[in-house]
Amino acid sequence: MRQLLDVKSLTREEINAIIERAFEMKKLVLAGEKCSLLKGKTVTTLFYENSTRTKTSFERAGMLVGADVNSLDIATSSIQKGESLVDTGKTLDALGTDIVIIRHQASGTPLFLSKNVKASVVNAGDGTHAHPTQALLDLMTMIEHFGSVEGLKVTIMGDIVHSRVARSNLVCLKKMGAEVTMCAPLTLLPKEFSAHCKMTTNPTEAVAGADVIMGLRMQLERQNCGPFPSLKEYNRLYGINNALLEKAKPTTVVMHPGPVNRGVEIAGEVLDGKASLIETQVTNGLAVRMSVLSLIGEGR
Ligand code: CP
Repeated sequence: MRQLLDVKSLTREEINAIIERAFEMKKLVLAGEKCSLLKGKTVTTLFYENSTRTKTSFERAGMLVGADVNSLDIATSSIQKGESLVDTGKTLDALGTDIVIIRHQASGTPLFLSKNVKASVVNAGDGTHAHPTQALLDLMTMIEHFGSVEGLKVTIMGDIVHSRVARSNLVCLKKMGAEVTMCAPLTLLPKEFSAHCKMTTNPTEAVAGADVIMGLRMQLERQNCGPFPSLKEYNRLYGINNALLEKAKPTTVVMHPGPVNRGVEIAGEVLDGKASLIETQVTNGLAVRMSVLSLIGEGR
């Protein structure tokens, strides 16, 4: 592996190799151990958009596989003086960075950067396009819980049209044999998805028979057309709460990539309830990112 820009470019075999190594990395994490697969390599995070989970776990993952880790603080960097993305990337090259991890509000930015720098580029989320490590950690979490995702019924509910997580999960889950249903008000359902998955505006229909219900945050920062009347109304009609879970199977699990808006797309009773795998997702994110960074280190 030379870089990771999206899940679309990975084969099933490559995805399996990432997940297999992530399970090995999780054993290290749980044992409080490290490895030195990336000893002598430098990893730099370049986050133009806010993040808690992805940024922290990439930084920690880099340290746990033995890399030197730098974080460029965009707010205090020369980007504020007008330095371009390409010039920033070339500067990181000149400083000896081996892997740049970038999050950007514009779809396609990681691909663009990868064509202009010597370092390997990892996409940590670009606009509404892709969030490959989120899809991989979600896959790992489902495999860990169910053994396999072949034939698994996964329902994704929330702001699907603006979600890079929904897009990457759709590609990844379909590639690995799962059945995907998307559920949201019509204004949040992209028409082009209908060729690849089931779509419904009815939450009861969406959760019936689902093995996994994945909630997505309302991405207010990307919504500029008022796709629903109010957050209160969205919550009343589409919120994932215990009453909705009762319409699913007793074995159904709930996932969410975070950050969560408690009481909007998901109720606290579900977030903190026994069906929730949300904290496991975060831990698995560390393992997946250790796997990805070490595989790229080997591929360079
Ligand atoms: N899931 C996710 O990308 O979370 P952050 O925005 O906190 O990184």
